[in-house]
Amino acid sequence: MRHYIADIGQSERAEMDALASSLRGSGDEVVVIDLRPSMAAVASDLLRYRARHDGGYWNTTGAARFVLVSELAPLMRADGCQTLAHGCVGGGNDQRRFARYGGQVAPGLSVIEPWTDPQALERFPDREAMLAAVTERGLPLDPGSGAEWSTDANLAGISHESAELEDLETPVTRLRPRWSNWPGQGPAEPETVTVTFLDGRVADVNGSGPEPLAWMTLANEIGARHGVWLRDVVERRIIGTVCRGIYEAPGLELLERAWTRILQASLDAAGRELYDRLAAVLGAAMYEARWLEPAAHAARHGIDRLVGDVGGSVTLSVHRGLVQVERMKVAGPVVQQTRFGSGGNRWS
Ligand code: ARG
Repeated sequence: MRHYIADIGQSERAEMDALASSLRGSGDEVVVIDLRPSMAAVASDLLRYRARHDGGYWNTTGAARFVLVSELAPLMRADGCQTLAHGCVGGGNDQRRFARYGGQVAPGLSVIEPWTDPQALERFPDREAMLAAVTERGLPLDPGSGAEWSTDANLAGISHESAELEDLETPVTRLRPRWSNWPGQGPAEPETVTVTFLDGRVADVNGSGPEPLAWMTLANEIGARHGVWLRDVVERRIIGTVCRGIYEAPGLELLERAWTRILQASLDAAGRELYDRLAAVLGAAMYEARWLEPAAHAARHGIDRLVGDVGGSVTLSVHRGLVQVERMKVAGPVVQQTRFGSGGNRWS
């Protein structure tokens, strides 16, 4: 059997290496692939298109499924694989995402879901049966890892859900964030962050340089340190259920404040309204795994036309969950006159 392990910035490198060597030790083939640059590129898209779902969730899990399938499935096909199996349980969105993207990016690759497949369920009726089989094979899975709920991490952010968190009466403070400080736990002193945008994308964060992996990593660190990260939402799932999710996306939350400011200063009212509508289309597209469908392409083209030459830099002050804009400069063809009493601006 051939296994594929992807690094999407989930910060579990030691666990991934241990898994790879154990699988190799039991005679299987393992391909470990670094998808962090692709994950960073899609995070850059999430920000540019502000592709959020209900309540501001940054679609970090949906984005990761897109990256995983669109990068791995063609590779698997080229390696002669015919089947992609995944471990999603039946109640969430991810099963739909794997199936949709699998069919789109690698036609002919069949996608199977052991947890919803009647034959597989006969052999593994529950997690205990699966754990027994895994332990029998000597795989390095710690059945007593003590996870209290389900956590899904990647470079763009982390989602926490299920079990106790699903209960709407569970206070958000029950969460133990994986990356982030609570706002009150941040450093006593504020930190200054300058975000530069070029052609409608982040080009630098405090000297990180233009590589999305570099600026995303740095923005995550800063946001997490200062308690800028949290979304506690009740969301409508693809399959029609309503569930509670708690999300850590420190980098995206932080960068969004700067991006919003640039948009406010650069677009006229009609342009801004159109941006928001197209962003809503793209938020739904990423959530529902329709990122490759025609409406999503058209919406991206629309936003590309609106923000493709927008730029500037925004200096933020970040302190215990609070983000304030200290100053900004707008570059690009549409520059507002902001001096009060100047007789208006180009749009009036
Ligand atoms: N509800 C989120 C989504 O559908 C997260 C799903 C996966 N998260 C998890 N912790 N298992 O995108």
